Amino acid sequence: MATPEADRFEASLLLAGAGKMGGALLRAWLDRGYDPRKIDVIEPHPSPELIELAQAKGFALRAPSRPPGILVLAIKPQALDEAAASLASFASPNTLVVSILAGKTIANISAKLPQARAIVRAMPNLPAAVGRGITALAANAAATPGQRAAAEALLAAAGGVEWLASEELIDAVAAVSGSGPAYVFYLAEALASAGSSVGLPASIAARLARATVEGAGELLFQSREKSAAELRENVTSRGGTTAAALEVLMAQDGLKPLIERAVKAAKQCAEALAG
Ligand SMILES: NC(=O)c1ccc[n+]([C@@H]2O[C@H](COP(=O)([O-])OP(=O)(O)OC[C@H]3O[C@@H](n4cnc5c(N)ncnc54)[C@H](OP(=O)(O)O)[C@@H]3O)[C@@H](O)[C@H]2O)c1
Repeated sequence: MATPEADRFEASLLLAGAGKMGGALLRAWLDRGYDPRKIDVIEPHPSPELIELAQAKGFALRAPSRPPGILVLAIKPQALDEAAASLASFASPNTLVVSILAGKTIANISAKLPQARAIVRAMPNLPAAVGRGITALAANAAATPGQRAAAEALLAAAGGVEWLASEELIDAVAAVSGSGPAYVFYLAEALASAGSSVGLPASIAARLARATVEGAGELLFQSREKSAAELRENVTSRGGTTAAALEVLMAQDGLKPLIERAVKAAKQCAEALAG
């Protein structure tokens, strides 16, 4: 199916690493109309699903014969040193490098791929796998407007995108949206456990909590014109049960300071990983 992004999917592309996130992005590009004949994928141990996808769609599971227009790095950060030796020859001065490696700065990537000029650093998140990701992007000065637009289209295929004024903000992004899906999964666990504590059978409490998080997320998604606060206020009647719970959650020592502490811990960890 051709989409508006398909017009931006012009360059030849090499994807290095088709694991969880690289694989999710690859599927999003193919779904959005990227010509599979323009895509090569390097993956040391391709899964049967990846081999099947390559056969069904027609992209190549091998290194290209010359540097691509775009090189997407989706390997584990700790694999960069080893992978760089073979990947460096694919990053020519005309290649846009898009890195999703957590904790690896544009300077780190540039040092490993010395010929590369234009580098975009991206921080996607797990819901990219269902087309509901959110990615923050930061580009170096060498990236042209066309290369920035190409990077944006690649990540927009898997959800929303936000440009950052400075690469330094990526650690804060990692702490909010990068790690955020796990916080929401934990909210479902905590709500289930609270359900058991007020007398529900554990399995029913787990199903109720899960469906509540799923449904509330879907409502947020479908009510884009309303803020989260408005949606909350709309379901909170004065003196009611929701208000009683929110009084606890919104107390001075309630959920907000707790989440702030959690996000700060994640940000500090991201900064430490980046060195
Ligand atoms: N998952 C997320 O939610 C998320 C969010 C934001 C950013 N990221 C970033 O995305 C990157 C990938 O994460 P992931 O969760 O997708 O990890 P993953 O599932 O382990 O995928 C990495 C893939 O790269 C392959 N690989 C290793 N060395 C390679 C090489 N030299 N050339 C090509 N491919 C190579 C790995 O193969 P083997 O397994 O055979 O080694 C693996 O299939 C990481 O840098 C991470 O920081 C992930």
